[in-house]
Order: sequence, then structure tokens, then C-alpha cells
Amino acid sequence: MRCMDRTRAQRRLRELREEIAGHDHRYYVLTKPAISDAAYDRLYDELLRLEADFPDLVTPDSPSQRVGGAPIAGFGHVRHTLPMLSLEKARTDREFELFDARVRKALDGEPFEYHIEPKVDGVSLCLHYRDGELVLAATRGDGEVGDDITANVRTIRSVPLRLRMAKPPAFLEVRGEAYMDHAGFARANERLVAAGEEPFPNPRNATAGSLKQLDPRVVATRPLSAVFYAAGRTEGIRFATHAEALACFREAGLPTPSLTFVCGAFREALERCHEMKAREGELPYPIDGAVVKVNRLDQWERLGLKSKHPAYAIAYKPKEWLEQAETRIRDITVQVGRGGTLTPVAELEPVFLDGSTVSRATLHNADEIRRKDIRIGDAVVVEKAGMVIPAVVRPIPEKRSGAEKTFGMPDRCPACGGPVSRGQLASGAGEEVAVRCENLQCPAQKARRLEYFCQRAALDIEGVGGIVADKLTESGLVDDPFDLYRLKPVQLATLNLGTAEEPRVFGEKNAAKVVAALERSRTAPLSRWLFALGIPDIGEITAFELARLHDSVEAVAASAALRGIVRLYALRDEREQVNPRSRLRKPKDEAEKAAREARVTEIDAELSNLESALKAVRVVEIGPVGAAAVVSFFESSRGRAVVKTMKARGIRPSSETADGGLAAGPFAAKTFVLTGTLESMGRDEAKAEIRRRGGDVAGSVSRQTAGLIVGGDAGGTKSRAAEAMGVRVIPEAEFLAMLGRKPTPVTGPKQTELL
Ligand code: IVH
Repeated sequence: MRCMDRTRAQRRLRELREEIAGHDHRYYVLTKPAISDAAYDRLYDELLRLEADFPDLVTPDSPSQRVGGAPIAGFGHVRHTLPMLSLEKARTDREFELFDARVRKALDGEPFEYHIEPKVDGVSLCLHYRDGELVLAATRGDGEVGDDITANVRTIRSVPLRLRMAKPPAFLEVRGEAYMDHAGFARANERLVAAGEEPFPNPRNATAGSLKQLDPRVVATRPLSAVFYAAGRTEGIRFATHAEALACFREAGLPTPSLTFVCGAFREALERCHEMKAREGELPYPIDGAVVKVNRLDQWERLGLKSKHPAYAIAYKPKEWLEQAETRIRDITVQVGRGGTLTPVAELEPVFLDGSTVSRATLHNADEIRRKDIRIGDAVVVEKAGMVIPAVVRPIPEKRSGAEKTFGMPDRCPACGGPVSRGQLASGAGEEVAVRCENLQCPAQKARRLEYFCQRAALDIEGVGGIVADKLTESGLVDDPFDLYRLKPVQLATLNLGTAEEPRVFGEKNAAKVVAALERSRTAPLSRWLFALGIPDIGEITAFELARLHDSVEAVAASAALRGIVRLYALRDEREQVNPRSRLRKPKDEAEKAAREARVTEIDAELSNLESALKAVRVVEIGPVGAAAVVSFFESSRGRAVVKTMKARGIRPSSETADGGLAAGPFAAKTFVLTGTLESMGRDEAKAEIRRRGGDVAGSVSRQTAGLIVGGDAGGTKSRAAEAMGVRVIPEAEFLAMLGRKPTPVTGPKQTELL
């Protein structure tokens, strides 16, 4: 009898678990409950009663087991199966277009689609399902190692404890975001306030704070939800497209983002992103952009990684989407930048804006303050302008009390007390708006150069931020960023970040982190190094283009391509000046006209050479200003010292060029012509190989042709033209050698790519 009961109980328990999980799914994921709360409670009570009678029949995936045991002392650490990466951002439509161009180029004409989905503004996490059962949940942490928050995540009712699949895969890792919707956030805060506790400033903090709770019973009272948008490591399941992965998640009972689109062209993708913003209100979670991913997963592998970000996706977050907030200016202080520029900064009453609390905003310069009539004490509108420091958009004059004060720029540097200057505008139209501290030894300038060098987008020396940079400079330990590599750990560990009266040392742990980061930075990607050097006009994008074209700092310093760009624009300018037909300056007589015409002919010849050489390296992002800035930096004494110091300190940035050096190599900046049939590869492959190495392919032989690559059964026309013009003829074997390949036997087995 007892045995019979047990069997029946087991069956009934299985039914109850499935039924309750099904109702949870309908309620929390589909938001379409099928039964009343009372009916649900009856099922739940029955489950609890039966489990109390048969405690050994309780399974970990039972709905009763969402809230586990007692509080824990701390979270365990989990190493992610694959790093949890972050996404590159597109701040403008143009940046999005550049991403699209990069994808198009990398896929070499192959058709592809985009998957557009919301960028959920929550707290990232990953879940592991083994044989369908939730076995682990972890935070993102530093992307490599996160915290084990399984007990807390189990309390989130929209997270299934078991996947709703007949045949679950052996292993499925899903990645997504935990969040609190607005109503839940308000409810959670009400409860906190009623309990005499501090409310959370915003839903994201509330989510992060809840997940960090050591007592899962507290977490269970917080209205958390989650949504999943990516697969991590999988075993026993494969997806062909991202859309398919999300559909599978959805089928398996995992919440996935709504408002997703699959589309082809860039224009449509852009429209869909805008549509997402317009329909943001339909989503239960806050979003801070749209994520655009290439849909096919085999194409992801071909696109690969772009330093820290996957190349198959981008987060579209244009400026117009940035949120604004209202606050008040308490004071206006003056900051000295790394180039000595004095920038007024508004010290604000802290306000929550676009995911974080801001208390400072840049005011750009004194002219702008005057133009916008911003006063100390004003109520103002602030927004995030794509930088770390937000900007003051405008004052709200209606809210003035009359006690507001106007601001004036100081005539001495607030950091070193040295004189400041206002540069004259080149046009002679008056003074430049920027005010500069002229003292190159100004400690504030040095500290800002150091901070710039260490920032995340540069060499990512975590820990060397504003105050640490200030103190390292003040103490005389670091005069130039390269001095960091000479510091002893103990010097860092004992660095006083406080005052003489109230010392606060940096500490051994932090010092060890900095030392490790410095060690890593020695082989950081070249683009980061080029950015970190703080060359005027060289931002991250140009630095990346430079690194794509050159394989070392020395190669950038000696670059023929950059000098070519400078020369190209100078020649175009000169042509405009001397051309007797241009309207700038009429020739005074026939002799001058003839001389100027002759010069135009010379210029045109040089221009055509330069243009074809530069077209071959396909310089897309480097203009004359950037190129000139780089050339003059490396010709300056500081630039030369940088190259020397890097060598002396054993710093060898890693190359980001395809095949190690587009600016060097036999194909760089040269145009080739193909004729006949190559035995080892098709024509398209040959073209791609040449282009990948910085060369180009043209249809017919000219004097600019660097070589004619001749395959079998080639007709004679191109070879004769090459001979007549003295163009080098390259047989296939030599071409292969130039590519760095061995000649392959014609009948050998075809190599297939193994993934
Ligand atoms: S894909 C590397 N998709 O935004 C690709 N991320 O910097 C993995 N995020 O840390 C992320 N919504 O936590 C992806 N639909 C979405 C997302 C999303 C929000 C978060 C993610 C990541 C950050 C991007």
C-alpha cells in the first residue's frame, strides 16, 4: 500500500511540477496566465504537502526549490567557458555604416542578413543547463571570471529551472540580462522605504544590488526578471543562425527579447534600429540602444574578433537616443587637460542619467558659457554626449532666483599658477576660444597624459585613474607615462592617495594588479598603443586604421603611405593654386601661364602615381590632418624618444595587420594584373590574397602596374603590353612564393577547412 502510494505520489509530483512550471512560464515569460491565482495556489499547496510527506522525492528543479538554503558567506568564482565580451558601439549612422562596410568586405561579397534586437540595460549574466537542468548562474565579472550567483538566480521566476524540451542538449549556456521593470522597481523601493532602508537610485542598481545579496530569501522578494540573447558554449546542439538560437531558447521556455527583426540591407537595418527606439515603450525593460548582429553563425567565425569585441555585432547608440536630465549647477571649476587646455566644468547636484549618476559636466569653454548664458546656481538640462563626462545642454532661466553668478576664466593656471594664453586664430579673426596653460611641466598636464595613456580604450592599466595619476605625478614618481615601466611594486603599493594627515595607501593588491596590467600592455595591440601615445588628432578609429596598415610603431614612424597622403593633399592644394584656369589667381602674362601649365602637368603625373599607390592600400579613414599629425609626431624629439624608449623597455605591440604588415611586403601599395588560369587558385581567391596584403588588382596593364601574374594558357596581349612597358612578368610559382605559400600539386587532395 505504502509502495503504491509512493509510486502514485511520484507520478503526481511530476505532474504538479510540470503544471506549475508551465503556469510560471505562461505568467512570467509569456505574460498570459491561464488560471486564477487561487487555482495556482491550490496546485502549489498540493505540491508542498506531497513533498512534505515524501521528502526524498524532492528534486532540485521543483518549483518549491527556487528559494534555497541559508545565506552564504560569499560568492564562489566561476571561470567563463568563453569570455563574456562587450560590444563595440556605433554613435553615429556613419559609424554604423563603417561597421557595415567592414562586414561586407570581410564576407567578400557573400550575401548576409542582420538580426536586430534591443540592447537591454540590465545586469549581464550567464546560465548553464546540463541535460536540461539549471546547474549554474554567474555574473559577467571581468568577462573572464564572474561570481557564482546560482542560488539567487534560481529565485527569478522567469528563469526555468528545467528547459522545456523533450530532448534537452547535453550542455547549453545562455547569456542575457537580469533586470527590474519599472513597476517592480517602484514596488521594491516602496518596501525598502517602509522597512526604513535606503531606496535604490535606479532599476539597474536595484538589479545589481539584489543579485549581490548573500541571502537568496531576500533576493526572492525582489521583482527580478531576465531575458536571454546569446548562446555560450553548447554541446549536443548547434544553431545555423542567431534567429534560430533565439527561437530555440523561446521554445525551451527561456525569455527572449521581443521587437527583433531580420533584414538585409544597411539602410533597412538603420530604419529598424530607429523603429526600435520609437517602440521602446512596448518592452518591459529599459534599453539603451539596438544590437545589430550578423545572423548566420558560420559568418561569425569568418568575421572573428576585433580586439575586445566580436566583429559580427555592434551596439547602435546614436547621440539622439541619449537621455537628458534636469539638475542644478553648484559651482564651476576649471580643469587642465593633457594638452594644457583649461576647461570649465560644472559641478552638479548629482542626478541619474542614462544608467549612472552624474555630478560633473563639461562646459567646453568660456565662450560657450557666455553664448548659452550659463550661470553658477542655474537649473540646467544635461545629457551624455558619448563621452564619460556629460554636457550641459542649456540653462532654464525661468527657474532663476537672481542669486546666480556669472563665471569668468582665471588668468593663471589653477594647477601650477603659471600664465595662460589665448591663441590667435590663424584667420586673424580674433582670439582662439581655447585658453591654455603654457607650462609643459605643469603637473596637471602630466597627470592627464598619464591618465589618458592608462584609460580603458588605450592600454587599460586599471587602477591608474584620476587620483592615482595625480598622486603619481605629484610625488615625482612618474613624469612621463613610460616611467610607469620603471616603477617598483613597493613604490606603487606605498603611494599615498590621501593627505599627510590622513594617509591612505594604494596597497599591495592594487599595485600587483597595475604591475600585471603593465606587463600585459607590452604586447597590447598596436592600435591601442598608437591611441595611448596621445598624438594630436589621432582617435581610436584612426589609430585602428594606422594599425591595420602598419605592423609596428617603427613602421608607422617611417610610413611611406602616411607621407604619401600628406603629399597627395599638398599637391592637390598646389594644383588649385597654380592652375592658370582656376579662379584663384590669373597669370599676368603668357610666360607665367606656360610655366604654371607645365607645373600642373608635373603635378598631375605625380598625383596619378600617388593616387594609384594609395588606392592600393585603401586608406579609408586617414585624412591629411591625421597623416600629418602622425608624421610630425614621429619626426619630433618626443616621437623619436617614444620609439627609442619602447625598444629599450622591451615593448612590442602586437600587429593587427592581416598577414603581418600591409605597409611592407611585396604587394603593399602596388597594383597587379592577372592573366591566364592559375593552377593553385581561382581568380577571385588570387585577388583576395593580393588585397589582403594591401595590394590591388587592375584589369589592364599600364605603367603603374607593379607586375603581371601569368597563369597557364595566357594569351599574348597582356604579356606583350607588359614587355613593352617594362612591367615585370610574374609566373605562378613566383606569385605563390610572394604569398608565402608552397606550390601545391595540381591533383592533391583539396584541403577543407576544419571548424
Ligand atoms: S550580445 C559580445 N546582445 O551589452 C556579444 N549584448 O557591451 C555578447 N547587452 O555586456 C553580447 N543587450 O551584457 C548582446 N541584445 C544584446 C544585448 C547585449 C544588452 C549587453 C551585454 C554586453 C553589453 C555590450
